[in-house]
Amino acid sequence: MSFPPGFVFGVATASYQIEGSPVRDGGGLSVWDMFCRRPGKVWNGDTGHIACDHYHRWREDVELMKAIGVQAYRFSISWPRVLPEGVGRVHSEGIAFYDRLVDALLEASIEPWVTLFHWDYPYELYCRGGWLNPDSPAWFADYARVVVRKLSDRVTHWITLNEPQCFIGLGHQLGTHAPGDQLGLTEVLRAGHHALLAHGHAVQAIRAESRKAPAVGFAPVGVTKHPATEDPADVEAARSAMFAVQDTSPWSNTWWLDPIFRSGYPEDGLRLFGSAAPTIGPSDFEVIGQPLDFFGVNIYNSQPIRATGEGGYEAVPYSINMARTTYGWPVTPEALYWGPRFFWERYRLPIVITETGLGNTDWPSEDGCVHDPQRVDFLKRYLRQLHRASADGVPVHGCFHWSLMDNFEWNEGYRMRFGLVYVNYDTQERILKDSAQWYRSLIESRGASLEA
Ligand code: GCO
Repeated sequence: MSFPPGFVFGVATASYQIEGSPVRDGGGLSVWDMFCRRPGKVWNGDTGHIACDHYHRWREDVELMKAIGVQAYRFSISWPRVLPEGVGRVHSEGIAFYDRLVDALLEASIEPWVTLFHWDYPYELYCRGGWLNPDSPAWFADYARVVVRKLSDRVTHWITLNEPQCFIGLGHQLGTHAPGDQLGLTEVLRAGHHALLAHGHAVQAIRAESRKAPAVGFAPVGVTKHPATEDPADVEAARSAMFAVQDTSPWSNTWWLDPIFRSGYPEDGLRLFGSAAPTIGPSDFEVIGQPLDFFGVNIYNSQPIRATGEGGYEAVPYSINMARTTYGWPVTPEALYWGPRFFWERYRLPIVITETGLGNTDWPSEDGCVHDPQRVDFLKRYLRQLHRASADGVPVHGCFHWSLMDNFEWNEGYRMRFGLVYVNYDTQERILKDSAQWYRSLIESRGASLEA
């Protein structure tokens, strides 16, 4: 079951979820700082103000990664830590933090994969209209330039945006994530269009400023569907469902990905959204469609689909016995077979799983260890399916476990734990869970331990 040579085993995190707020150290506020202050918005009133205090404990955290033997670390840069007002003045201490982190990672032979934006949007720019402002793509490109100039002598792997479905959809349409807005569809789609333009401009900025040849990608939610059976009719049904825009929710693939890879919004989405669809400038799709080097995607679960007989499809209800994570998300290992396979078929770029994992209720046992057999079981099942995709010819180039350590799970606060490393939020003590040891043997055997 070995993965191909060059396949990268990594772990992932995001700035606001682990670092502690930039305002503690002279940086600016983000929309997440402000959202956490609003009563009732985050479970238990939790905030990311301290989180895992990674900003002060990063040396120890790099040591933990070394102990697990990871080959790569995907982390995000906090935009308001680097530019407190979002544009203009650079907070030199803020960027110096990432500079030191990159050095320490390379010294530990861990490849840094940098995400430029994982949701902690500068509050000062939000007050100027945020993603609705037509200048927002240029703001993001300016920020990208500052980071790339500083780090690209050492960093070669870049991811522009993490999950626009969430920061636009949950943040601006449903209001359950920061900034907590519930805009009308026209404004939501307009903000989304600006985010796609921001992605394109950032790709251009990365290529223009990099001092070493960069590998650039994007990390959307992979809204994954799998066939209820392997009957060709069900496979076709799942493929159709996965690439359809079915409703006005943020949960589609093609609305966000066709502009990047196929130079335009999908026809079904345009029909469905009608006059709410964004106005397109003459060179917009040229900017948005900048070539990428890999297809990053975050996949946690998928929905079974069956053919209905007349070329149609329908979702198959999950069994009452379906295993579920603490979120209630179904445990569907097929997601890591059909997701990569369908995305590869449609978009023809090597796949990198930029996130997968499960939220659980891990705690230290009386023996002081954190036993998390469910995570090990989950990962075994998921990674076997990823291996199957690779063996069937899908170019899968890497997989990042979400997450390195337990952290602030957005509006769910600290209610669930996603880490290979347990974090005691009172003492900031870290404990490697059983799954961390398991991941270590997996990496050492390059996947062969999945056979056991
Ligand atoms: C996401 C984000 C992560 C989450 C993780 C678990 O996918 O929502 O990228 O920040 O913490 O996915 O929900």
